[in-house]
Amino acid sequence: MYHPSENPVVIKFIHSPFTVSRLVDKSEIDTPALIVDVDVMIRNIRDMAKFAKERGLKLRPHVKTHKAPQIAKMQVEEGGNGICVQKLGEAEVMAEYGLDNIFITNEVVGRLKLSRLAKLREKIEVFVAVDHLDNIRDLSNIMRDRGLDLGVYVDVDCGMHRTGVPPEKAPDLAEAITRSEGLYLVGIMAYEGHAGAPLGREERKNLIRKAMEQTLFSVKLVERKGIEVNEVSVGSSATVRYSGMFEGITELQPGMYIFNDYYLVEREAATVDTCALHVLTTVMSRPSPDRGVIDAGSKTFHFDMNRYPIAVGVEGVEIVKFSEEHGWLTLKGEAQHRIRLGDRLEFIPYHVCPCVNQFDTLYGLKGDKVQYMWTVAARGKVT
Ligand SMILES: Cc1ncc(COP(=O)(O)O)c(C=O)c1O
Repeated sequence: MYHPSENPVVIKFIHSPFTVSRLVDKSEIDTPALIVDVDVMIRNIRDMAKFAKERGLKLRPHVKTHKAPQIAKMQVEEGGNGICVQKLGEAEVMAEYGLDNIFITNEVVGRLKLSRLAKLREKIEVFVAVDHLDNIRDLSNIMRDRGLDLGVYVDVDCGMHRTGVPPEKAPDLAEAITRSEGLYLVGIMAYEGHAGAPLGREERKNLIRKAMEQTLFSVKLVERKGIEVNEVSVGSSATVRYSGMFEGITELQPGMYIFNDYYLVEREAATVDTCALHVLTTVMSRPSPDRGVIDAGSKTFHFDMNRYPIAVGVEGVEIVKFSEEHGWLTLKGEAQHRIRLGDRLEFIPYHVCPCVNQFDTLYGLKGDKVQYMWTVAARGKVT
């Protein structure tokens, strides 16, 4: 059992060359590096677990944000009902580390993947989402042939227009699942990530409400056919505190809340103080008083939303451009005198998930001491 209050943990990882053999100081971490405030992270984990519990909802944290099995275990032990992943490869890694109840919130399609999925199902409880009758047929064939049963959620498009069927089509898929050997229906999944995107609170609320109405309408249609819907799974970090209030929702699957990021700060789902993960960098060049360069560029932060990370704990420092390995800084006011070559600067990523995916290790800090080194074992597992 994991106890955050216990003494520093020495962790040895299958995939990692690292072990923490003594308490390393933050100043000994080479840069760029991902540093996590352990207390803030644990508070984030517990706050979300408390929210779900108070609402009588299941919480399946989406671990695509951190991809670190040890952290996934903490989330389960702190009140998670299993975990979510986005990719089969992530599920395989998590299972290797002992996580045994995993919802792949995605369609698993193609001969090679189905064979891997069946292998995984032989070992652990795993669930998938579907949005196509052909996929239901293929899943059923392989599970039946191998004598397995697989839990399936119908993926409903609640307004994002990515994957998922419109609510009106959900009963057809639900019926097909209940008729398919080797499969059983768990319920409905609807991801309302689009609803968290607008900067205006009212616009977000409207979109979330519409998304939940669509989701619950699909549930009604399925139930009208006499088919039982056990779980109704929704939730992104930007929306979950509102979507989780709708009667009929049973399960939440937020991911980013564990670390938070500036995307969530701008959408009032986090504050700078609840951003647990910072990128630690070093000023590697000072070409002129108003310019600096850090040793972290697009290969460190990733750059998928056209927004730069935000400097913390220092005034007048702004990233204005990325090269692969360089972050171009503009320095204003006092920063023009204060910032020196070799200074270490911290940034909150704008979008934390792809940033974490660039790294092998997360350093968990208590104050200035490294307490944990977590291996990002599922990084790059995109198949
Ligand atoms: C299907 C699905 N569920 C849950 C999540 C978690 O959302 P977030 O990372 O915004 O908390 C995602 C994120 O992309 C997702 O695609």
